[in-house]
Amino acid sequence: MARAKKAKSAGEGTPDAITLLKADHRQVEDWFGQFEKARDANKKQMLATQICKALKVHTMIEEEIFYPAFLEATGEKDIHHEAEVEHNGAKKLIAEIEESSPDDDYFDAKVSVLSEMIKHHVKEEEGPGGMFSESRDSEMDLDMLGEQLAARKAELEGESDDMDEEPPTGGRKSRGQSERRQHG
Ligand SMILES: [Fe+2]
Ligand SMILES: [Fe+2]
Repeated sequence: MARAKKAKSAGEGTPDAITLLKADHRQVEDWFGQFEKARDANKKQMLATQICKALKVHTMIEEEIFYPAFLEATGEKDIHHEAEVEHNGAKKLIAEIEESSPDDDYFDAKVSVLSEMIKHHVKEEEGPGGMFSESRDSEMDLDMLGEQLAARKAELEGESDDMDEEPPTGGRKSRGQSERRQHG
């Protein structure tokens, strides 16, 4: 009888959109924490790679699915645009980190600044009056969006090995920009 809790799941245990996105946030926060403590270069490299991959998938599913649904349902242009601008800043730094390695004197600094950027961004999404609470107050179908996010996430994670080897085709332009800026 204690099943009145607000639906966390849509269908077969798929989390709703906000539950899914928050779980992504907790995962990268954990990895950033491990990176901070890591001393071994291989471990740092592995964690940075995981963080960058996860953030690329996360920002992409938000931009493709969640953000447009949010804008449509709430009309909150300021919140939406700020979030996208923050994503763009993070993506540039992610591209730099991916082209870098623990041998680079600036590697730790880059990861640490990315961590701060993401911390700020997550606060904006999860905080009071932020995107997630506005979403909960709106008519958005969070269960359906959760299913869409999960499906797209699985698809992108499947592709992510290729994403490493080749420049993205038909994708966004973060990579080209970072190449130009490298050691500029
Ligand atoms: Fe997010
Ligand atoms: Fe975001």
